[in-house]
Amino acid sequence: MTATTRPDLQVLTLRVNGSTWQGAVEPNALLLDVIRYEAGLTGTKRGCDMGTCGCCAVQIDGVPKLSCLTLALDCEGAEIKTIEGVQQGPLLSELQEEWAACGASQCGFCTPGMILVGEAFLDRNPTPTDREIREAIAGNLCRCTGYVKIVEAFQRAAERRNAAAGDTEPA
Ligand code: FES
Ligand code: FES
Repeated sequence: MTATTRPDLQVLTLRVNGSTWQGAVEPNALLLDVIRYEAGLTGTKRGCDMGTCGCCAVQIDGVPKLSCLTLALDCEGAEIKTIEGVQQGPLLSELQEEWAACGASQCGFCTPGMILVGEAFLDRNPTPTDREIREAIAGNLCRCTGYVKIVEAFQRAAERRNAAAGDTEPA
């Protein structure tokens, strides 16, 4: 159904993972629904639908936000990043690679939200303690792993990011 046959719909233009998406949405459409069911980016997960599990987290202008609590129309003009936009071309990020290497996913349902929160966290805090990592992901619930491997993946990713940054600093 188009905006012309549904006068209650509003045209929305989003920037998602560097591309432009445009469609007609209800004024109260959630960003989570638009991302998953209109833009087809199903890596963003729906868990609790009430702001408590964190698996719907995306980045909006670099800041992690819960897409189940965000109105899509409020995101017009913002840069949205979902899990599909974390890797650069064929290359996974350090955090994604270490997640896999450490076995930090079991069912994987929490992983996209954790990675989006985690990438922003490591940008802010390149040398985190285990406690700081656990605090950063306190809003992301994992029912499977017990978090030990997740913290290990964060630490290994932080080391790799810092080593790569050191390699690019002028002598
Ligand atoms: S689905 Fe958004 S916080 Fe659980
Ligand atoms: S790996 Fe299953 S919820 Fe985290």
